[in-house]
Amino acid sequence: MCGIVGYVGPRPVIDVLLPGLTHLEYRGYDSAGVALIRDGSMDVIKTAGRIADLVALVGREAPRPAISGIGHTRWATHGAPNTVNAHPHTDDGGDVVVVHNGIIENWAILKRKLTEAGHEFTSDTDTEVVAHMLADLSDLPLIEAVRQVMNQSEGALALAVMRRSEPNVIVGARRGSPLVVGRGDGENFLASDIPAFLEHTREMVIIEDDRVVEVRPGSIRLIDLEGNELEPEHRKVEWDLEAAERGGYPTFMLKEIHEQPHAIGDTLAGRVSETGRVVLDELDIDPDLLRRIDKVFVVACGTSYHAAMMAKYAIERWTRLPVEIDIASEFRYRDPVLDERSLVIGISQSGETIDTLAAVRYGKAQGANLIGVSNVVDSALARESDAVLYTRAGPEIGVAATKTFTTQLVALQLLGLYLAQVRGSMDPGRIEVLVREMLRLPEQVELALGASGEIERLTRKWKSVRDYFFLGRSGDFPVAMEGALKLKEIAYVRAEGYAAGEMKHGPIALIEKGVVVVGVVTDSHVRAKTLSNMEEMRARGATIVLVAEEGDDVGAVADHVVRVPAGPDLLCTVTAVVPLQLLAYHVATARGLDVDKPRNLAKTVTVE
Ligand code: F6R
Repeated sequence: MCGIVGYVGPRPVIDVLLPGLTHLEYRGYDSAGVALIRDGSMDVIKTAGRIADLVALVGREAPRPAISGIGHTRWATHGAPNTVNAHPHTDDGGDVVVVHNGIIENWAILKRKLTEAGHEFTSDTDTEVVAHMLADLSDLPLIEAVRQVMNQSEGALALAVMRRSEPNVIVGARRGSPLVVGRGDGENFLASDIPAFLEHTREMVIIEDDRVVEVRPGSIRLIDLEGNELEPEHRKVEWDLEAAERGGYPTFMLKEIHEQPHAIGDTLAGRVSETGRVVLDELDIDPDLLRRIDKVFVVACGTSYHAAMMAKYAIERWTRLPVEIDIASEFRYRDPVLDERSLVIGISQSGETIDTLAAVRYGKAQGANLIGVSNVVDSALARESDAVLYTRAGPEIGVAATKTFTTQLVALQLLGLYLAQVRGSMDPGRIEVLVREMLRLPEQVELALGASGEIERLTRKWKSVRDYFFLGRSGDFPVAMEGALKLKEIAYVRAEGYAAGEMKHGPIALIEKGVVVVGVVTDSHVRAKTLSNMEEMRARGATIVLVAEEGDDVGAVADHVVRVPAGPDLLCTVTAVVPLQLLAYHVATARGLDVDKPRNLAKTVTVE
């Protein structure tokens, strides 16, 4: 996720771009840049760091006045967040300049072709291919050249592009990643999101997927990817700035819950082949080494630890390697036995959690190999790992992890299948089936989000409930644990996540009328056993809510059943957790709490 802004018109361009980028900083903040054009000259100013660093740099470099400009704030997905990889990117001759949001899935093939044709690349980004492709189409009007580039690019992306020879034109294009036009009087704006131009205009034009738009000071022209002219559809923005930054949602947490289908799509992008294989070329680790591994250790904290629990089931089931999982702050103190044939997987969305860093350092010191799973490119975990798998969820502003958790699950499932593929521990046909099912996850999570209203109505009855249990077995167990953690941290009510079968060994003494028990029943090989455990809770007076797959006849045990789309065991963790995120959210908001900033918590925990 990154932020794009563009402006053509009479105002000082830089004074539109920099505040616009500041309003988009929630979309990414590891590097930023602007490009400004006037009468054949182009200035590109960019830097690693936040928008404040860019503002300081622009102050020092004092760019020439311009009549159009584009800007970008980045959340890295390809290449480290440094100045060279910061956007905008230009072609070899500096004639075309581009900013981009999203992932160009076929960038490696495009880059190889362009390099063979003599283009020289300066960055590690996927974006730069667009600038070089456009340079080869310099005889076409920019809008037509961008249309052709869109037709050759795969994946979800949004672009804003300028050319030195057409100084009063910005061309934008969209497929899967957001892009809107702000319509002014003798001026126009282009942006990833409305807050970038809301202080200047409330008139906007929505750009649908697979559209290319040409923005001039006095006109907006829209075409589809076949080149047909389309009538732009105008809308008025009713939100204030604060609501617009949250995309119209009342909180960042709810916005991020709803971003999950897109985020999961990004996690999967370019990582599976058409033939149903997992392609993790970015995982810079010798396959022979992965074949020699004889034991796996997964370490993480909090929500990331729940992703580790799922990873254990997945890796053991798919590779038959033994997997140990540890809460990172406990790992070192039990003297675990590791050596050169051990693989440590460290999971941390921030990549800066000190307990997790200490745990992976311990593993490395014993000679183990380290794969990091992180949401932040070039985080400490990423730098210290032998290989990294990024979750690509984009920045998460809400303190409670939501989209970073589901993307961790997906990334770890990909990693589990990749290990199985490399080690030959699973039939390729079975891998292909699971890969194809994974590609359905974005759509299935979208369906799971549909239960929000129903869950809100349900939780309204629970104002006085003080005790919740979340129960599951096997793959449903980590989901239950995560449901309980979400409720504790944002609603401040006691919630226990437990293995359903373990309740009878003690905690069942706490079950009585007035306790809510949420059972997760998506893992088929433990379904019957979990349902029997839920009967035990019901017999003691608890209110029973089940999260179950569409079509599964579980009704008799439950006071209420929340449905999620049916899917293979373990993959279902991704959809099953969505109702539990919504449940925590609605309980917390009914109690009037600030879900984005729960008390006593920090987004990144850098103390032991
Ligand atoms: C819960 C939550 C925390 C984090 C934990 C680890 O919603 O956000 O439990 O999961 O602090 O953080 P990372 O993944 O950054 O290491």
